Amino acid sequence: MSELITRQHDDGVLELTLNRPQKKNALNREMYLGLTELLQRADADETVKAVLLSGSGDSFCAGNDIADFVSSGASAEAARVPLRLLQTLAGLEKPLVAAIQGHAVGIGTTLLLHCDLVYGADNSRLQLPFARLGLVPEGGSSLLLPQLVGHRKAFELLVLGEVFDADCGLSIGLINEVTPVDQVLQLARERAGTLAALPQQAVRKSKQMLRAHQQDLLQQVLVEEIDAFRERLHSEEAQHALMAFMQRG
Ligand code: COA
Repeated sequence: MSELITRQHDDGVLELTLNRPQKKNALNREMYLGLTELLQRADADETVKAVLLSGSGDSFCAGNDIADFVSSGASAEAARVPLRLLQTLAGLEKPLVAAIQGHAVGIGTTLLLHCDLVYGADNSRLQLPFARLGLVPEGGSSLLLPQLVGHRKAFELLVLGEVFDADCGLSIGLINEVTPVDQVLQLARERAGTLAALPQQAVRKSKQMLRAHQQDLLQQVLVEEIDAFRERLHSEEAQHALMAFMQRG
């Protein structure tokens, strides 16, 4: 398995770390594939009781790799790769904990909507810049974010797409707790350890019950969003915005 995602398995907690710090852990095709496989294996492995996701370096995840978007992101085959990760996250049976710091952009923020506990460093800078990039919401965010914060706040976050901080994430219920940056991973480890020590069938059944009512709808939304996203990737608006990022001085 690629070192772009590192893993450590102790006392029932599988720690998966996005490990491309020089690119702020932007997710390329290999990372999507690797993370999907590791999560699927975690669900099938009885010794894994909780999964902890974090990012190495100064940031959690700067979203989809923009170079990949430009080269192949709009093809049906390329779009299936992030879709499979999102479907896996949305259907994951084991509890998923995230520790975030620094930048969490695009899917780096939307994937948090699929986590069960999220701990945020006080330097976190979250952003959903989809419309700014000529794109549309992904990761189930067009369903899950309005449910969390109502239409107007979701519209503000998804369409105005400005950066928001960990305290804002806390106030809207996206983040459970904010800590100084040097404590966030430790706190997330403690919470994941607590989850791993609880009666496992009760934890899993509780998670399943919390999500069961709209699991089918969410899976349908994920597919619809990816189709709309692909269509937008072909657009002049998106091509222009993505090339502008690639050609920054
Ligand atoms: N895709 C590809 N490369 C990315 C990236 C992404 N999503 N995000 C960051 N990088 C790369 C940068 O190109 C840069 O590479 P280089 O050193 O080879 O030039 C490196 O990561 C460091 O990023 P940099 O922009 O220099 O850091 P910063 O601290 O000034 O800014 C961000 C950090 C996250 C605000 C900025 O990189 C950014 O806006 N990234 C794009 C985020 C995005 O729009 N994601 C897609 C959402 S759908």
